[in-house]
Amino acid sequence: MVFLLLLQLLAVPFGFAAESPSGGEQWEFDYFVLALQWPATSCKNAGKCCPANGCCRGDDSPTEFTIHGLWPQYNKGGWPSCCTDENFDENEISTLTEDIQKYWPTYRCGTTSTCHRTKGSFWTHEYEKHGTCSAPVIVGEYDYFLTTLTIFSKYNVTKVLVDAGFVASNTEKYPIEDVVAAIKKEFNATPKITCAKNGAVKELWLCFDKSFEPRDCDLANSCPDLIELPTYDPKEPNKVEGAIPWIADAEKII
Ligand SMILES: *[C@@H]1O[C@H](CO)[C@@H](O)[C@H](O)[C@H]1NC(C)=O
Repeated sequence: MVFLLLLQLLAVPFGFAAESPSGGEQWEFDYFVLALQWPATSCKNAGKCCPANGCCRGDDSPTEFTIHGLWPQYNKGGWPSCCTDENFDENEISTLTEDIQKYWPTYRCGTTSTCHRTKGSFWTHEYEKHGTCSAPVIVGEYDYFLTTLTIFSKYNVTKVLVDAGFVASNTEKYPIEDVVAAIKKEFNATPKITCAKNGAVKELWLCFDKSFEPRDCDLANSCPDLIELPTYDPKEPNKVEGAIPWIADAEKII
């Protein structure tokens, strides 16, 4: 009880005073989106390779859906962002590093914006922008990453799709209705799917209420009637895609 009160006190100056993207005030969110990325589609535009890029781990590159983030949302549309002054601290989640690298990889080399006008890792961005807005359901960095990983393994969308015959392929196309129906049958809630122009699945979102029970996403799919789950030919860690050959050679020598 004391703890809850304390949270509420903290929430006044930090949690709900931050500016939203539209410049208005923010308040407690209504539900969560678990946003998942399809690696083959994400890696198509990944650009450069570097050790940090999940697209470039050779045979260890992901071949199934991976986590993009767990995002608090408003029922009326939109979402809170950058809700506290907290800075991401990688040390707090050091015990989760292996799972994060495996199930929550970044598909880029570069840094991204943080909530403090600086640049940081993909995980810094996800935590500061979305994670800090997950209170009072999730409080703190460790809880944010652990909860997201837990939900991700509990609602294994790759498994549902494979069991229903929707396997990764560069030749098969699947009716989006059937893919959505397979997920709805298993989780009792409709997902949202986004696609690249050719119908290749880019992201799949699962929605959850604040007790982490699946709920409908209530968000329109952005895909054609027939969708694809392309396979990916992983890049090797030390190959620089699209680079002038002599630069790659020079890097190897150094
Ligand atoms: C999800 O299921 C797939 C296919 O059965 C399996 O390879 C994968 O390890 C599972 N993922 C998690 C996070 O448990």
